Amino acid sequence: MQKRVLIGAMSMAIATLWSGAAFADGNTFKIGLILPMTGQQATTGRQIEAAARLYMAQNGDTVAGKKIELIVKDDTSVPDVTKRMAQELVVNDKVNVLAGFGITPSALAVAPIATQSKTPEVVMAAATSSITESSPYIIRTSFTLPQASVSLADWAPKNGIKKVVTLVSDYGPGIDAEKFFKERLTFNGGQVIESLRVPLRGPDFAPFLQKVRDLKPDALFVFVPSGAGAAVMKQFLERGMDKAGIRLIGTGDITDDDQLNDMGDGALGVVTSHHYSTYHQSPANKKFVEAFQKANKNLRPNFMAVGGYDGMRVIYEALKATKGNGGGDALLAAMKGQIFESPRGPVFIDAQTRDIVQNIYLRKVERKEGQLYNVEFDVIKDVKDPGKNR
Ligand code: DHB
Repeated sequence: MQKRVLIGAMSMAIATLWSGAAFADGNTFKIGLILPMTGQQATTGRQIEAAARLYMAQNGDTVAGKKIELIVKDDTSVPDVTKRMAQELVVNDKVNVLAGFGITPSALAVAPIATQSKTPEVVMAAATSSITESSPYIIRTSFTLPQASVSLADWAPKNGIKKVVTLVSDYGPGIDAEKFFKERLTFNGGQVIESLRVPLRGPDFAPFLQKVRDLKPDALFVFVPSGAGAAVMKQFLERGMDKAGIRLIGTGDITDDDQLNDMGDGALGVVTSHHYSTYHQSPANKKFVEAFQKANKNLRPNFMAVGGYDGMRVIYEALKATKGNGGGDALLAAMKGQIFESPRGPVFIDAQTRDIVQNIYLRKVERKEGQLYNVEFDVIKDVKDPGKNR
């Protein structure tokens, strides 16, 4: 009898513990933020984590009655690690949303997990066009390389650039950039005379740049991922490519705001196309840049930070719209179709493609208030990813 009472008391205690846990879980909304915090893509992780934390500091950590818990994991930008971390976050931590993803292979590695577990995957950095097609649970708040490349291919031939060599990192976004730039430039009467690809990991640009010098194009078009631009710029200048009359152009990844100010005057005049510049002139951006710099020892927010900041907004608004009751499908539905003013300008999450529609700006590196910035001089409004529905 005594034993039974004891067991009864114990099971009650366990039940209480359980419901306690369930209670805590029921009131917590977990975001698993997987980022490269170390290694070659570490600046991406640093920027996105800082932006996510800023968004939370500005908007509170309780939404629709739920306490937001941000779980940050460092995948060192190794896709197998990203995948394992996503699995653990879904199975053990029971996260409501997976987010982050510094490079395309990491975003793709998580797609099957998002689909199977019906967990929204918010891609804040990776930018290969096809990513959103790898799972119906993917939403993107970064950009696509076709989106950025096509606008530059429209600008170039009108500005004396007809013969171009392309140089890209040899993986998804680089191949997208190469393909879409070439296709549009050719359509516009220009010509890509050579397409070069460099490895993603530890690239040595020197032999490729030598080849470009020999080919003497009007311009060299470059895509390398965020964090690698400074090395390209340095070697481009060291080899005297600019003095040989070869212009450097590319997507804004090469004049990354995270590094631009340290690139020196050699970067002046470089024209790029992209969706975000720290120097974007709008009240929303001014407020964002000031707050970001204040919270991060004056670090400049780059396009990765904006992808992270807007990604958090999309998650917060979905949680609000579902009044805190939404599972993966409801959250996803509430993420689709969001329209808002981002620090980059007006944006829209296309409900059909789950990809971001946004302005693409043409920018030139200039010195302003003593610092190097990407200064916007033209805008192509509401650009959809040209990689979709072809
Ligand atoms: C990707 C990574 C980057 O750092 C970038 O600037 C663009 C694209 C990617 O892997 O998709």
